[in-house]
Amino acid sequence: MSLRAIVYVRDPPSLEILNQLLLPHETVYESVTTVQQGYEQINRMKVRGAPAIGIVAALTLAIDLQLKLQTFNKNPNALDSDTLNMLNSPLLLGNFIRDSLDHLNQSRPTAVNLFRTSDILWEVTSSGIKKNLGTKQIIETLVDTAVQMMNDDLIDNNNIGKYGAEFILRNGDKRICVVTHCNTGSLATSGYGTALGIIRHLHTHGNLLHAYYTETRPYNQGSRLTSYELLHDKIPSTLICDSMVSALLSSHFSFKKIDHKITAIIVGADRVAKNGDTANKIGTYQLAITAKYHNVMFIVAAPSTSIDLKIKNGRDIVIEERSEDEVVFVNGLIKQDEIEKYQIRKVRVPPEGVKVWNPSFDVTPAELITAIVTEKGVVEKEKDGKEFDLEKFLMSQ
Ligand code: MRU
Repeated sequence: MSLRAIVYVRDPPSLEILNQLLLPHETVYESVTTVQQGYEQINRMKVRGAPAIGIVAALTLAIDLQLKLQTFNKNPNALDSDTLNMLNSPLLLGNFIRDSLDHLNQSRPTAVNLFRTSDILWEVTSSGIKKNLGTKQIIETLVDTAVQMMNDDLIDNNNIGKYGAEFILRNGDKRICVVTHCNTGSLATSGYGTALGIIRHLHTHGNLLHAYYTETRPYNQGSRLTSYELLHDKIPSTLICDSMVSALLSSHFSFKKIDHKITAIIVGADRVAKNGDTANKIGTYQLAITAKYHNVMFIVAAPSTSIDLKIKNGRDIVIEERSEDEVVFVNGLIKQDEIEKYQIRKVRVPPEGVKVWNPSFDVTPAELITAIVTEKGVVEKEKDGKEFDLEKFLMSQ
């Protein structure tokens, strides 16, 4: 079993993306060579998770340009005249990069990581043009930046894991049970994970008794992907349905099979507003409500790049609404040719004619969040405060 969602090689250039729609039954890497292919990987959720989609967008543009440059150097006659002109003109190259980033930005609307990636790549491109760099140098700088983003993400996740585990242990027992939602691990990042990184850290340091994780309907990031990662790392864990968390947290029940004293619910984030309101996978909000009711810590784990200071509060975050096929069918996102190729069953559950609502994310108010764990440290609210001051936190770093 491989846990690498993104496999990039700089020289000779190649980019392979693990098709997460087919997991855990098939491990299929798909080669990405163009911006359009990268767009489709993200839009169809073959790769997903806020940090991973930002990194794939950056590497997609990098590989597209590297391959064009490679052909230009070896066999320029194989290129069409538009591409030839672009590789001879920094201004035309800049136009191509701007259009490509705009296109990639359309692939998914909620995670801020995608837009932040675009801003950074555009900044290095326009500064290269201003400095009169040649096209080859502009492309090299863009590739350097994309690779740096991928490498930084792994380092950040290790720090999130450490800071998050230390924070939870300071406020809880020495061996604890936690709950997580969605998939926030290696498959959603360039490695290790955010919320799952904290669970990994707790486990490797002997502080984890048990991790419970939700199925995360409708895409089943939990039952398909988090299962895959937890089994791979041999982390003691139990899969539950999304509707079971309150029962798990409640002390009114005494279950035979489980130790249900939960210390913390730990989740990731797709976008954190300036006041700490957090957009994350649909179902996160109800977990925060039940955590508050049961006096359990509710921890958001995310790189500081997921904080969007331009957004004052959660009301301004755009929430993606996806196809009803995800809800109506088991394996509803897999296309017919792949269904046939991999002999996967696509099963309709409700009767024909039902109306379906499928928001992919919800927003958890800052008031319900105990702490936000980033690679720079842990942010808490002022005593009796209802919101976080994330601007102050980021400025103080
Ligand atoms: O729709 P997805 O699978 O891209 O949603 C993923 C999540 O909501 C994750 O919790 C979030 O992106 C953080 S991943 C480290």
